[in-house]
Amino acid sequence: MTKNLQVLLASRPTGPVEESNFKIVESDIPKPGGGEVLVKNLWLSLDPYMRGRMNAAKSYAKYVEIGDVMVGGTVGQVIESNNPKFRIGDHVVGSLGWQLYAISNGEGLNVIEPHIVPLSAYLGVCGMPGVTAWFGLLEYCAPKAGETVLVSAASGAVGGVVGQLAKMQGCRAVGIAGGPKKCEYAVKELGFDACVDYKAGKLIDDLKAACPNGVDAYFENVGGEIMDASFRLLNPFSRVALCGLISDYNRPEAYGVKMLRALLVNRVKLQGFIVFDRQDLYPKAVAHLVNAVAAGKIKYHETIAEGLRSAPRAFMGLLKGENLGKQLVKLA
Ligand SMILES: NC(=O)c1ccc[n+]([C@@H]2O[C@H](COP(=O)([O-])OP(=O)(O)OC[C@H]3O[C@@H](n4cnc5c(N)ncnc54)[C@H](OP(=O)(O)O)[C@@H]3O)[C@@H](O)[C@H]2O)c1
Repeated sequence: MTKNLQVLLASRPTGPVEESNFKIVESDIPKPGGGEVLVKNLWLSLDPYMRGRMNAAKSYAKYVEIGDVMVGGTVGQVIESNNPKFRIGDHVVGSLGWQLYAISNGEGLNVIEPHIVPLSAYLGVCGMPGVTAWFGLLEYCAPKAGETVLVSAASGAVGGVVGQLAKMQGCRAVGIAGGPKKCEYAVKELGFDACVDYKAGKLIDDLKAACPNGVDAYFENVGGEIMDASFRLLNPFSRVALCGLISDYNRPEAYGVKMLRALLVNRVKLQGFIVFDRQDLYPKAVAHLVNAVAAGKIKYHETIAEGLRSAPRAFMGLLKGENLGKQLVKLA
């Protein structure tokens, strides 16, 4: 143990994120006080929501202040403990930010079992993104066997789980993703029935071909033109789970939705949601996902950046679609 390394928010981006928005600093490793633990972070999760936290805007969670450590989900190991709930050596998942060592009072920190699924899975398929998929699909898309479920950003951390859960419900799972490699992964590795490459330039025609019976449930991760095109496929009384709008995050101005009429004439039920809305369901969802992954029933892919210093670059790549599956940073 020598020094701590931290990534701070140096400035707020006005459009696409740049390396200069971050500052990497060395500092002393902190000492835990009464009731606190010192955690050595092993894995850092990079997620689209972090882009929102870089803006000083009102949202469902407080933004990061300039000079503060970037917010982020982590898996680590307790190396000092003054808290009876945590023993030295425990593996823990929490939100300890873009840094190698962190102090926690135990709030929001959960001990995880390191031998059932790989530790990194607790940040992806068995963590916040997986729970988002589980919760948004089962609660808000409410899919029934035989229905068609469409999901955007289908090869990503959330979308990949949505498609596989939809298949388990007996649905036709159709994805939308950027490029043939991602579409092939969704179909061949994850078992989607079809995946439409939105970069191929004929989105509406390809969606119609992939969804011959229309769309009964749409899990929205992207927004923009992809959302407008997908709205045109919605069946009467279909459901939309509005999970994310990643195509808007780097835009100075939000995209103007054009196809709201499709929601009206088809009497569509749309629900925006945040994964932490139903804390009561969280442990149940994690248990289900851990069991399904351990049994090989849910598959996943990780894109891994090496070392904390690579985090800004990897995050910029995530917002441009450079990742396949869950974007992580390996810290140790
Ligand atoms: N509501 C919640 O509680 C909650 C929780 C977790 C995540 N989310 C949201 O869910 C969405 C997916 O998150 P994730 O963690 O699974 O990320 P991800 O899919 O693993 O990675 C982001 C993907 O988004 C796509 N993308 C990026 N920029 C895009 C653009 N301009 N247009 C179209 N697609 C673009 C890229 O895939 P392609 O190459 O296929 O375009 C990229 O790989 C995000 O919108 C996120 O904010 C919401």
